[in-house]
Formats: sequence, C-alpha cells, structure tokens
Amino acid sequence: MSNVALQALKARRSQYALGKSLPLPKAEVAQLIQEAIRQSPSPFNSQSSRAIILFDAESDKFWELVLAALRPIVPAQAFGATEGKIKSFAAGAGTVLFYEDQSVIKGLQEKFALYADNFPVWSEQVSGMAQLAVWTTLAAANIGASLQHYNPLVDDAAAAAWNVPANWKLRAMMPFGSHQAGFGDKSFISDSERFRVFG
Ligand SMILES: Cc1cc2nc3c(=O)[nH]c(=O)nc-3n(C[C@H](O)[C@H](O)[C@H](O)COP(=O)(O)O)c2cc1C
Repeated sequence: MSNVALQALKARRSQYALGKSLPLPKAEVAQLIQEAIRQSPSPFNSQSSRAIILFDAESDKFWELVLAALRPIVPAQAFGATEGKIKSFAAGAGTVLFYEDQSVIKGLQEKFALYADNFPVWSEQVSGMAQLAVWTTLAAANIGASLQHYNPLVDDAAAAAWNVPANWKLRAMMPFGSHQAGFGDKSFISDSERFRVFG
C-alpha cells in the first residue's frame, strides 16, 4: 500500500537510543515542530496546544529537573536504573514539552455550556494529536523521538525554570535527536479483533 501519510506514520517509532546531532539546523527543527502543532486539529479550532522546545543545555536542564524530582521517591537500589533511563533522554539534542492552555478550555466551557464536560477530554485528544503530528514530522526528517510522562512530578520545577504561564498544563514530553540504533520488530494484534467493516 503506497500512501505518503501511512509511510510517515510507519516511520514513527519510539527511539530510545538518541544522540546529539541533528540533520537540520535547530531553527528549522523548531519550525517543523511548531508547524506540526499549528496544523493539528482542535475543537472549534480552539488551538489549546502550547509547546516549549528545548535544545542542548536547556534540554539537559529539563532532564536534571526530572531526575531531582525522582530522587526522593525512587528507592535507592532502583535509582541507578532510573538515572540511566533519564540520561538516555538527555543524550538527545532536545526535548519538546507539550502543554494545554487551561484558560482556553475554561473559555470553551463558558461559551459552549452544552459541551462543558467534553472540553477537558477533547483537550487531551488535542494534545495527543499534536504529539503524534510532531513525532511523525520529526520521523519524516530522520529525527528519532520518544514520548514520556514525568508530569505532574516535574511541572512546578519546569514552570519556574522557563517561566511557564500558570494556565499551561504539562501533558507530555518528547526527547528527540539522532538515531543511535535501529528499531526492533513491532507486533500487531489481528485485524479481526480490531476492525469491523460494513457495506
Ligand atoms: C498515550 C501514550 C502514552 C505513552 N507513554 C509512554 C511513556 O510514558 N514512556 C515511553 O517510553 N513510551 C510511551 N509511549 C510510547 C508507547 O510505548 C509506544 O508508542 C508503543 O509501545 C509502540 O511502539 P512505537 O512507538 O515504536 O510504535 C506512549 C504512547 C502513547 C500513545
């Protein structure tokens, strides 16, 4: 099956072996990330996604903050493994922090009271769509990435470090960089379990 969107989706995988070199200048990578989020859909075109894009020392700083937040809660005997994992994310060239602007969600709830309960759920979906768009766009530029969730543990420290508005809620983080290893095989459950086609 030849389809450019499917080719891009297939190229997107979780890359945990990241390196510092990028195939494009940082400014272009930042533009790709921004454009991917800009082109992602949102209810009533409300555009609630926000992002902070960190390169080099700023990205390292983020992962140091994660490690500092984990230190008091991870048992001492497990901390070495945790540290190794966090360092593998810091080994990349940068990190995207995905946020959702809660003031947009609140505004939608006030304006469209009928859907008030839906907007927080849709906000999560919006963020997921933005994350997939960025991940796939990076993959198409031959940049590896993975999706991580050290929120809400690191929220306050990140907010203080990058002066994040109080209404921005951290939803996920995506370390990215050069591919330092290939990917393992990926298995799929059977189509008959997942899909029904009629007509
Ligand atoms: C909503 C969501 C949450 C995820 N959270 C994490 C995570 O916290 N850490 C991680 O390493 N991978 C995370 N992943 C990545 C999945 O584990 C991964 O996409 C899946 O195993 C398929 O592998 P692939 O990305 O190589 O296709 C998450 C993926 C999704 C969609």
